[in-house]
Amino acid sequence: MAARRTDPPQLLNAEATTGNLVVRVRRIHRRDLNRVWEFLKLVFRDVNRETVEYQRPRSKKRFLEVYEEEGVEQLVFESGSQIVGYAECALEITGADNWMNQRYFDKHDMNPMFVEELAVHPEFHGQGIGGFVLEQLEHLARVRGCTHLVLEVAENNDTALQFYRARNFTKLDAAIFMAKKIAVEADLLPPRKLRKPRKKPSET
Ligand SMILES: CC(C)(COP(=O)(O)OP(=O)(O)OC[C@H]1O[C@@H](n2cnc3c(N)ncnc32)[C@H](O)[C@@H]1OP(=O)(O)O)[C@@H](O)C(=O)NCCC(=O)NCCS
Repeated sequence: MAARRTDPPQLLNAEATTGNLVVRVRRIHRRDLNRVWEFLKLVFRDVNRETVEYQRPRSKKRFLEVYEEEGVEQLVFESGSQIVGYAECALEITGADNWMNQRYFDKHDMNPMFVEELAVHPEFHGQGIGGFVLEQLEHLARVRGCTHLVLEVAENNDTALQFYRARNFTKLDAAIFMAKKIAVEADLLPPRKLRKPRKKPSET
Protein backbone atom coordinates (compact mmCIF):
# COMPACT_ATOMS: atom_id res chain seq x y z
CA MET A 1 0.00 0.00 0.00
CA ALA A 2 1.41 3.40 -0.92
CA ALA A 3 1.94 5.92 1.84
CA ARG A 4 -0.82 8.51 1.94
CA ARG A 5 0.23 12.07 1.26
CA THR A 6 -1.84 13.32 4.15
CA ASP A 7 0.00 11.14 6.68
CA PRO A 8 2.15 13.13 9.06
CA PRO A 9 5.88 12.40 8.66
CA GLN A 10 6.17 10.74 12.07
CA LEU A 11 3.43 8.29 11.07
CA LEU A 12 5.16 7.48 7.82
CA ASN A 13 8.38 6.87 9.70
CA ALA A 14 6.56 4.42 11.93
CA GLU A 15 5.52 2.24 9.01
CA ALA A 16 7.14 -1.10 8.28
CA THR A 17 6.60 -2.85 5.01
CA THR A 18 5.56 -6.48 4.68
CA GLY A 19 5.92 -7.21 0.97
CA ASN A 20 3.65 -4.74 -0.73
CA LEU A 21 1.62 -4.25 2.42
CA VAL A 22 2.27 -1.70 5.10
CA VAL A 23 1.63 -1.94 8.80
CA ARG A 24 1.04 1.31 10.64
CA VAL A 25 0.68 2.16 14.28
CA ARG A 26 -1.70 4.52 16.04
CA ARG A 27 -3.12 5.00 19.50
CA ILE A 28 -6.36 3.24 20.34
CA HIS A 29 -9.69 5.12 20.16
CA ARG A 30 -12.79 4.37 22.18
CA ARG A 31 -14.53 3.20 18.99
CA ASP A 32 -11.84 0.47 18.56
CA LEU A 33 -12.51 -1.23 21.90
CA ASN A 34 -14.90 -3.94 20.70
CA ARG A 35 -12.82 -4.78 17.64
CA VAL A 36 -9.60 -4.94 19.64
CA TRP A 37 -11.27 -7.17 22.26
CA GLU A 38 -12.42 -9.58 19.52
CA PHE A 39 -8.92 -9.46 18.06
CA LEU A 40 -7.34 -10.35 21.43
CA LYS A 41 -9.73 -13.24 21.99
CA LEU A 42 -8.73 -14.62 18.60
CA VAL A 43 -4.99 -14.22 19.19
CA PHE A 44 -4.97 -15.76 22.67
CA ARG A 45 -7.54 -18.52 22.13
CA ASP A 46 -4.95 -21.16 21.28
CA VAL A 47 -2.26 -19.80 23.61
CA ASN A 48 -4.62 -19.85 26.60
CA ARG A 49 -5.59 -23.46 25.86
CA GLU A 50 -2.00 -24.55 26.48
CA THR A 51 -0.98 -22.57 29.56
CA VAL A 52 -1.77 -22.73 33.28
CA GLU A 53 -2.09 -19.00 33.65
CA TYR A 54 -4.25 -16.94 31.34
CA GLN A 55 -1.97 -15.15 28.94
CA ARG A 56 -4.51 -12.36 29.04
CA PRO A 57 -6.90 -10.86 28.48
CA ARG A 58 -8.77 -12.16 31.47
CA SER A 59 -12.10 -10.45 30.86
CA LYS A 60 -13.68 -7.83 28.66
CA LYS A 61 -14.58 -5.87 31.78
CA ARG A 62 -10.90 -5.60 32.74
CA PHE A 63 -9.95 -4.70 29.17
CA LEU A 64 -12.49 -1.87 29.13
CA GLU A 65 -11.25 -0.62 32.51
CA VAL A 66 -7.71 -0.44 31.18
CA TYR A 67 -8.83 2.06 28.55
CA GLU A 68 -9.97 4.40 31.35
CA GLU A 69 -6.75 3.99 33.34
CA GLU A 70 -4.19 6.78 33.35
CA GLY A 71 -0.70 5.87 32.27
CA VAL A 72 -1.51 2.86 30.12
CA GLU A 73 -0.57 3.18 26.46
CA GLN A 74 -2.59 1.11 24.02
CA LEU A 75 -1.38 0.86 20.47
CA VAL A 76 -3.21 -0.57 17.49
CA PHE A 77 -1.34 -1.85 14.44
CA GLU A 78 -3.24 -1.94 11.18
CA SER A 79 -2.69 -3.12 7.67
CA GLY A 80 -5.33 -1.42 5.58
CA SER A 81 -8.43 -1.52 7.74
CA GLN A 82 -7.48 -4.82 9.40
CA ILE A 83 -6.16 -4.92 12.94
CA VAL A 84 -3.00 -7.04 12.75
CA GLY A 85 -1.39 -6.19 16.07
CA TYR A 86 -1.94 -4.69 19.50
CA ALA A 87 0.35 -3.62 22.31
CA GLU A 88 -0.25 -2.31 25.80
CA CYS A 89 2.38 -0.90 28.10
CA ALA A 90 2.70 1.15 31.27
CA LEU A 91 5.38 2.84 33.32
CA GLU A 92 3.88 1.63 36.55
CA ILE A 93 2.67 -1.75 37.70
CA THR A 94 -1.03 -1.74 36.92
CA GLY A 95 -4.06 -3.70 38.07
CA ALA A 96 -4.96 -4.75 41.59
CA ASP A 97 -4.25 -8.42 40.78
CA ASN A 98 -0.67 -7.88 39.66
CA TRP A 99 1.99 -9.91 41.43
CA MET A 100 4.96 -7.85 40.35
CA ASN A 101 7.10 -6.37 43.05
CA GLN A 102 8.28 -2.78 42.47
CA ARG A 103 11.03 -3.15 45.11
CA TYR A 104 12.81 -5.69 42.91
CA PHE A 105 13.23 -3.06 40.20
CA ASP A 106 14.25 -0.33 42.63
CA LYS A 107 16.90 -2.60 44.15
CA HIS A 108 18.33 -3.37 40.71
CA ASP A 109 18.32 0.25 39.55
CA MET A 110 15.81 -0.58 36.87
CA ASN A 111 13.25 1.81 35.50
CA PRO A 112 11.12 -0.57 33.50
CA MET A 113 8.40 -0.15 30.97
CA PHE A 114 5.93 -2.98 31.57
CA VAL A 115 4.61 -4.64 28.43
CA GLU A 116 1.18 -5.85 29.42
CA GLU A 117 0.17 -7.12 26.02
CA LEU A 118 1.81 -7.91 22.71
CA ALA A 119 -0.27 -9.68 20.12
CA VAL A 120 -0.19 -10.31 16.39
CA HIS A 121 -3.06 -11.70 14.32
CA PRO A 122 -2.44 -15.45 13.77
CA GLU A 123 -2.79 -15.11 10.00
CA PHE A 124 -0.05 -12.48 9.96
CA HIS A 125 2.57 -14.25 12.07
CA GLY A 126 6.09 -14.47 10.70
CA GLN A 127 5.87 -11.30 8.60
CA GLY A 128 7.77 -8.98 10.89
CA ILE A 129 4.79 -7.39 12.62
CA GLY A 130 5.82 -8.64 16.07
CA GLY A 131 9.30 -7.23 15.47
CA PHE A 132 7.79 -3.88 14.53
CA VAL A 133 5.56 -3.85 17.61
CA LEU A 134 8.55 -4.57 19.82
CA GLU A 135 10.64 -1.89 18.12
CA GLN A 136 7.83 0.58 18.73
CA LEU A 137 7.68 -0.37 22.41
CA GLU A 138 11.45 -0.08 22.73
CA HIS A 139 11.29 3.32 21.08
CA LEU A 140 8.59 4.46 23.53
CA ALA A 141 10.62 3.13 26.46
CA ARG A 142 13.68 5.06 25.29
CA VAL A 143 11.66 8.26 24.81
CA ARG A 144 10.19 7.87 28.31
CA GLY A 145 13.63 7.34 29.87
CA CYS A 146 13.12 3.69 30.78
CA THR A 147 15.99 1.26 31.16
CA HIS A 148 14.21 -2.01 30.37
CA LEU A 149 11.17 -3.60 28.79
CA VAL A 150 9.68 -6.09 31.24
CA LEU A 151 7.05 -8.67 30.41
CA GLU A 152 5.66 -11.96 31.55
CA VAL A 153 5.50 -14.96 29.27
CA ALA A 154 4.48 -18.55 29.91
CA GLU A 155 7.38 -20.97 29.77
CA ASN A 156 5.48 -23.22 27.37
CA ASN A 157 4.49 -20.40 25.02
CA ASP A 158 7.29 -21.56 22.74
CA THR A 159 6.62 -19.17 19.85
CA ALA A 160 6.68 -16.11 22.07
CA LEU A 161 9.69 -17.32 24.08
CA GLN A 162 11.69 -17.92 20.91
CA PHE A 163 10.62 -14.54 19.62
CA TYR A 164 11.76 -12.73 22.79
CA ARG A 165 15.02 -14.67 23.14
CA ALA A 166 15.91 -13.87 19.54
CA ARG A 167 15.50 -10.22 20.53
CA ASN A 168 17.82 -10.37 23.54
CA PHE A 169 15.25 -10.78 26.29
CA THR A 170 16.62 -12.76 29.22
CA LYS A 171 14.93 -14.41 32.18
CA LEU A 172 14.52 -12.03 35.06
CA ASP A 173 13.28 -14.29 37.77
CA ALA A 174 13.24 -17.96 38.59
CA ALA A 175 9.51 -18.24 39.17
CA ILE A 176 7.90 -21.13 37.37
CA PHE A 177 4.71 -23.04 37.97
CA MET A 178 5.39 -26.40 39.64
CA ALA A 179 2.97 -29.20 40.35
CA LYS A 180 3.18 -32.49 42.20
CA LYS A 181 0.56 -35.18 41.81
CA ILE A 182 -0.79 -36.08 45.21
CA ALA A 183 -1.55 -39.74 45.89
CA VAL A 184 -5.01 -39.66 47.33
CA GLU A 185 -7.46 -42.09 48.79
CA ALA A 186 -11.13 -41.36 48.37
CA ASP A 187 -12.14 -38.49 50.63
CA LEU A 188 -15.31 -40.30 51.64
CA LEU A 189 -15.16 -43.43 53.81
CA PRO A 190 -16.26 -46.76 52.36
CA PRO A 191 -19.71 -48.22 53.10
CA ARG A 192 -20.16 -49.57 56.61
CA LYS A 193 -22.24 -52.52 57.74
CA LEU A 194 -25.08 -51.57 59.98
CA ARG A 195 -25.42 -53.13 63.42
CA LYS A 196 -28.56 -55.10 64.07
CA PRO A 197 -31.01 -52.76 65.79
CA ARG A 198 -31.37 -53.40 69.50
CA LYS A 199 -34.76 -54.56 70.52
CA LYS A 200 -36.77 -51.98 72.41
CA PRO A 201 -37.55 -52.97 76.06
CA SER A 202 -41.29 -53.17 75.17
CA GLU A 203 -40.51 -55.89 72.60
CA THR A 204 -38.64 -58.20 74.99
C1 LIG B 1 5.00 -13.79 19.58
C2 LIG B 1 4.35 -12.99 18.44
C3 LIG B 1 3.97 -11.63 18.94
C4 LIG B 1 5.34 -12.86 17.27
O1 LIG B 1 4.72 -12.08 16.26
P1 LIG B 1 5.18 -12.19 14.69
O2 LIG B 1 4.49 -11.12 13.94
O3 LIG B 1 5.01 -13.58 14.23
O4 LIG B 1 6.74 -11.83 14.84
P2 LIG B 1 7.82 -11.63 13.68
O5 LIG B 1 7.24 -11.98 12.36
O6 LIG B 1 8.41 -10.28 13.85
O7 LIG B 1 8.90 -12.70 14.14
C5 LIG B 1 8.58 -14.07 14.29
C6 LIG B 1 9.79 -14.96 14.16
O8 LIG B 1 9.38 -16.31 13.82
C7 LIG B 1 9.74 -16.63 12.46
N1 LIG B 1 8.63 -17.22 11.72
C8 LIG B 1 8.71 -17.69 10.48
N2 LIG B 1 7.56 -18.20 10.09
C9 LIG B 1 6.71 -18.03 11.10
C10 LIG B 1 5.34 -18.33 11.25
N3 LIG B 1 4.63 -18.93 10.32
N4 LIG B 1 4.76 -18.01 12.42
C11 LIG B 1 5.46 -17.42 13.37
N5 LIG B 1 6.76 -17.10 13.25
C12 LIG B 1 7.39 -17.41 12.12
C13 LIG B 1 10.06 -15.31 11.88
O9 LIG B 1 10.96 -15.47 10.82
C14 LIG B 1 10.67 -14.56 13.03
O10 LIG B 1 11.98 -15.06 13.29
P3 LIG B 1 13.09 -14.15 13.99
O11 LIG B 1 12.74 -14.12 15.45
O12 LIG B 1 14.36 -14.87 13.71
O13 LIG B 1 12.99 -12.80 13.35
C15 LIG B 1 3.10 -13.76 17.88
O14 LIG B 1 3.46 -15.09 17.64
C16 LIG B 1 1.87 -13.73 18.77
O15 LIG B 1 1.10 -12.76 18.75
N6 LIG B 1 1.63 -14.81 19.51
C17 LIG B 1 0.39 -14.96 20.29
C18 LIG B 1 0.30 -13.98 21.42
C19 LIG B 1 1.43 -14.15 22.37
O16 LIG B 1 1.81 -15.24 22.76
N7 LIG B 1 1.98 -13.00 22.78
C20 LIG B 1 3.04 -12.95 23.75
C21 LIG B 1 2.49 -13.07 25.12
S1 LIG B 1 3.66 -12.54 26.29
